[in-house]
Amino acid sequence: MPVQHNTKLLIVDDLPENLLALSEIIKQDDRIIMQASSGEEALGLLLEHEFALAILDVTMPGMDGFELAELMRSTEKTRHVPIVFVSAAGKELNYAFKGYETGAVDFLHKPLDIAAVRSKVNVFVSLYQQRNQVRHQVEALEKSRAELHATQIELQRSLRMRDEFMSMVAHELRTPLNTLFLETQMRKMQLEKGRLDAFGEAQLQRMVERDDRQIKSMVRLIDDMVDVSRIRSGKLSIRPSETELSDLLKRIVSDLSHQAASANCDVALQADTVAHGVWDEFRVEQIIVNLLTNAFRYGSGKPVVVTLKTNPLHAEISVRDHGNGITAADQHRIFEPFERATTKVGSGLGLGLYIARQLAEAHGGALGVESVYGEGATFTLKLPFRNGLNRR
Ligand SMILES: Nc1ncnc2c1ncn2[C@@H]1O[C@H](COP(=O)(O)OP(=O)(O)OP(=O)(O)O)[C@@H](O)[C@H]1O
Ligand SMILES: [Mg+2]
Repeated sequence: MPVQHNTKLLIVDDLPENLLALSEIIKQDDRIIMQASSGEEALGLLLEHEFALAILDVTMPGMDGFELAELMRSTEKTRHVPIVFVSAAGKELNYAFKGYETGAVDFLHKPLDIAAVRSKVNVFVSLYQQRNQVRHQVEALEKSRAELHATQIELQRSLRMRDEFMSMVAHELRTPLNTLFLETQMRKMQLEKGRLDAFGEAQLQRMVERDDRQIKSMVRLIDDMVDVSRIRSGKLSIRPSETELSDLLKRIVSDLSHQAASANCDVALQADTVAHGVWDEFRVEQIIVNLLTNAFRYGSGKPVVVTLKTNPLHAEISVRDHGNGITAADQHRIFEPFERATTKVGSGLGLGLYIARQLAEAHGGALGVESVYGEGATFTLKLPFRNGLNRR
């Protein structure tokens, strides 16, 4: 058992020489001895400290030992402190202590037998220390039980999330797969009927574009899932190199013009400045594509504006749409994985913003949103020009 240096003993006697003698007899490294020269002083100490034992002189002017003991037994904090009375043998022992039944009580007789005093006090000290140790063990046990319970709940939650995730993924993959399947069925039928005119150059062009869209959407979904699992295992990496943002933005906006047109969105790019920095161009593109795809999806076909600005510390790209916007309550949530705004429009796994923010942070940057519900949303990506780059 580890030595407990904080075991406190209280000795109460009106005569300083008695206090000195007693404390010399019982002192040891594992205990602190506190002294009081009256019942009143003793009560003050008793209320302030936790004692393993109180040794009370029976005969004291003012409050005597028995009166002090009775007060101790009637107060919750001191009720269970064991008491040893010190009395002149035979003389005061016929006083019956009324609180006898409520706790450990013992007697020492004057003149004090040094060995008897020591062994008696040692018994009380080791009882106290053992009890304390048991209490600590019980507390530790209870703590680990609570932790186990929390882990269990967390485990159940992640199992449930995994199930929900699987069915969402299945659903999301089904849509493009179904479309592709229908297309091939149709082509098979046309081939069987010898209708080769359905495969003219213009028709083939459109078919390939349609197929391309379905395949890209499945590839994106699978890439997103791979990214999420990389983020979760701390293995998301960025490969920074010299990058210029205004040219990158021009290219992205032009690449997405088809998607913008099918969402009836007009996209304007405001980038009168250049922004050179060391960033992972592919990942920055992924962030911007996510924001633009959202602006098309949730922007109600209203104009979308992409802006590039710089300040001495950051390059800032914002994507503003004029759709419904996002309620204050949803503004935090939507950056969490699989979270979608309560006012659901369209379909999606709810991974885009989560991945985008993680990518921004991996660059030492940030991604945030400002929105007044009903008036559109502005997502802003901040990329630092130097430092804070998180190369993993
Ligand atoms: N520009 C926006 N305007 C309004 N709501 C938005 C906008 N962008 C995102 N949201 C809300 O935030 C949610 C989370 O967006 P996020 O891009 O993470 O997922 P998603 O678009 O639903 O699916 P995914 O991107 O995985 O295909 C969206 O479901 C939508 O409710
Ligand atoms: Mg999205």
